[in-house]
Amino acid sequence: SPRRPGAAAGAERSGAERGGSSPPPPAHPRPPPAGTLPPASPPSPPPRPAAARAPAPRRPEAALPTIYAITPTYSRPVQKAELTRLANTFRQVARLHWILVEDAAARSELVSRFVAGAGLPCTHLHVPTPRRYKRPGLPRATEQRNAGLPGVLFFADDDNTYSLELFQEMRTTRKVSVWPVGLVGGRRYERPVVENGKVVGWYTGWRADRPFAIDMAGFAVSLQVILSHPKAVFKRRGSQPGMQESDFLKQITTVEELEPKANNCTKVLVWHTRTEKVNLANEPKYHLDTVSIEV
Ligand SMILES: *[C@@H]1O[C@H](CO)[C@@H](O)[C@H](O)[C@H]1NC(C)=O
Repeated sequence: SPRRPGAAAGAERSGAERGGSSPPPPAHPRPPPAGTLPPASPPSPPPRPAAARAPAPRRPEAALPTIYAITPTYSRPVQKAELTRLANTFRQVARLHWILVEDAAARSELVSRFVAGAGLPCTHLHVPTPRRYKRPGLPRATEQRNAGLPGVLFFADDDNTYSLELFQEMRTTRKVSVWPVGLVGGRRYERPVVENGKVVGWYTGWRADRPFAIDMAGFAVSLQVILSHPKAVFKRRGSQPGMQESDFLKQITTVEELEPKANNCTKVLVWHTRTEKVNLANEPKYHLDTVSIEV
């Protein structure tokens, strides 16, 4: 799947609320018109912890830093199935804001409908590939809206499987946190090697000499670090395959600074599962079904 988006071409938010008897999550700004850049500042005051809103009872989750999970995604037969699996996980995570970035010239109907029904706070962006690497950075408008809020940024590719415990771990990220990733690099797992609570190396099947020999799913970054390194981006050009993570992380941190999570990097809480390539060999060219069904 595509990795890092550039500046976003459009944004849409869905503030669909979790069910149950608990109070609703903080309100989110209304969506801007389709195809426009999101405003630099929110039209309404940014979400505040529930404690600041008068009669609302204080919720334990109000004090939690928000996790911003960035998921690049692109149209393919398994897309909706992958996004559904991710949403089923993310919906169970308190104060998680999903940033879905479509690799497309416009937001697709499939993903738009999906976002509308996903039942979790979601920002839907799109960035076509050819221009992506010419533009700086992340969908910054989103982060700048939330600049005053503590938060953690995490790159959640749609072909991985995430345990809920992973989000508990990354929530306490102060600068940059790291953890093992399962089923990656031609091994059962890769992990940062930790001694005395510090990362000292990498257990990896491939190029252990990389400055940060870690998968995209193996780290999270605090928003403050992102905002204080506004020029830090994933480089398309000049980044060798598999070097994106290193090229990004070395712009914002050092190995000595890394915060090991998941029991000093001894637990696998995320898996690079991927999805079997689907067999569409019998998909008809003629005599199509009489109804058009989104898959
Ligand atoms: C990680 O290792 C450090 C140093 O050995 C230790 O103090 C700390 O308690 C460990 N953390 C966990 C979660 O096991």
